[in-house]
Amino acid sequence: MSSAASAFDQWIRSEFVDLNTALEELYFAQDDRARVEGIGDDLKRDLLRKGRALIAPLVAEGNTERRFDSAFDVLGNLGIYLGALRRHELTNPDRETESPFMDCSALGMHIAASIGVAPRFTSAHLGTHNRAVNGVQKSFTRLADERLFIDANLFGVLGYKSAGAALMRIPAIGVSAPAAALLLREAKAALEAVIRHNKTLYDELDADRFFYSVRPYYKPYRVGRTVYRGVNAGDFAEINEIDLLLGLCRGNDPYYAQLLEEKILFMPPEDQRSLRRCLGMRPLLDEFLELVEAHAGADWFQENARLFLEVCEAHGRAAAQHHNMLVRRFIERPAGELDATHLAQLTASGPPLDALVGALQVLRDKRMAAPGAGTDTAHDDLARIRQALARGGAS
Ligand code: HEM
Repeated sequence: MSSAASAFDQWIRSEFVDLNTALEELYFAQDDRARVEGIGDDLKRDLLRKGRALIAPLVAEGNTERRFDSAFDVLGNLGIYLGALRRHELTNPDRETESPFMDCSALGMHIAASIGVAPRFTSAHLGTHNRAVNGVQKSFTRLADERLFIDANLFGVLGYKSAGAALMRIPAIGVSAPAAALLLREAKAALEAVIRHNKTLYDELDADRFFYSVRPYYKPYRVGRTVYRGVNAGDFAEINEIDLLLGLCRGNDPYYAQLLEEKILFMPPEDQRSLRRCLGMRPLLDEFLELVEAHAGADWFQENARLFLEVCEAHGRAAAQHHNMLVRRFIERPAGELDATHLAQLTASGPPLDALVGALQVLRDKRMAAPGAGTDTAHDDLARIRQALARGGAS
């Protein structure tokens, strides 16, 4: 890391966090907690001035001769800074046609174009690629609820990553291999760990603190002229690899393909490569369906197909929990209490809340292989396997 990059990183881990925390306490103490403009202007001035002074030498340095890890890290710090400026209304894509921070934008675009990612901070910068110093990972504030959110998200993402990695090994050995049972058990255990971490978040996260003081840092903002959508915990490959390998979602389904297309640059490059590899693999569901007629009575089919269905069920349960518990308690319910002015800013330059919730519901139903869900699901195919298992013979 260059000395300019290191100085900026140290500031992002210290004074930057103090300034955001102080601003959050001011906002949260008001009757109208969603009000941001005109509050803490001296703190906001400090944030702007000190950050930009530290970024200027980085802009002059450009992205030449920087290793991937440090380039990705600088992009993250820059994006975390811009995410905070957006949160404090020091920039707002709705009232601008280009970013007021063109120097930061230029550096972000230079790095992003050279490593092949979106030029904003993504969830990996606060999760899988968020290096701890003395036990503390980067965050926007020192609020306990933000720490809990960052930790629980990463624990959940790591669970999905383990499940995805196990499933990715099955196509090469085939669903009838004895080791496929081992890998399916690993995937199921990892998804059950995701469910436990989601439950902790549900039980322990304070809904108001999350809604008013944490989530606003994840809004869309402009880099150059373009608005880049907000980030969410889902910007990693394995959640989609699980969808695709289980056959619950299809790469050639226009709805799902569009989602993959839109999210791929929000993933780190190693996730992008892994997802592309997965898109060339045959879903396990299709392999089981091909073999069900001839082999449903075989011991391996009884064991491996049963485990396969259990993995599908665990994936569906985690998706239902995300939608029915997390999204409902931490977004939909508090959003229902906002007045119209603030509601417009909640989804600024992103889809309206009901469209966002509707899109998440489609994913939930696909992952649950729900019957009659108004979207294509694998319900009938899974039922065919389940029936063959019950009969212990061909369907
Ligand atoms: C307080 C907890 C959480 C809330 C309120 C929440 C809410 C949301 C929302 C609203 C979206 C839609 C995109 C957007 O934000 O604009 C989303 C996407 C997503 N979230 Fe969460 N989330 C939470 C935690 C998690 C956790 C812990 C995970 C798993 C590790 C997760 C996985 C995903 C995934 C995979 C997506 C992308 C869409 C999909 O493929 O389902 N989320 N989340």
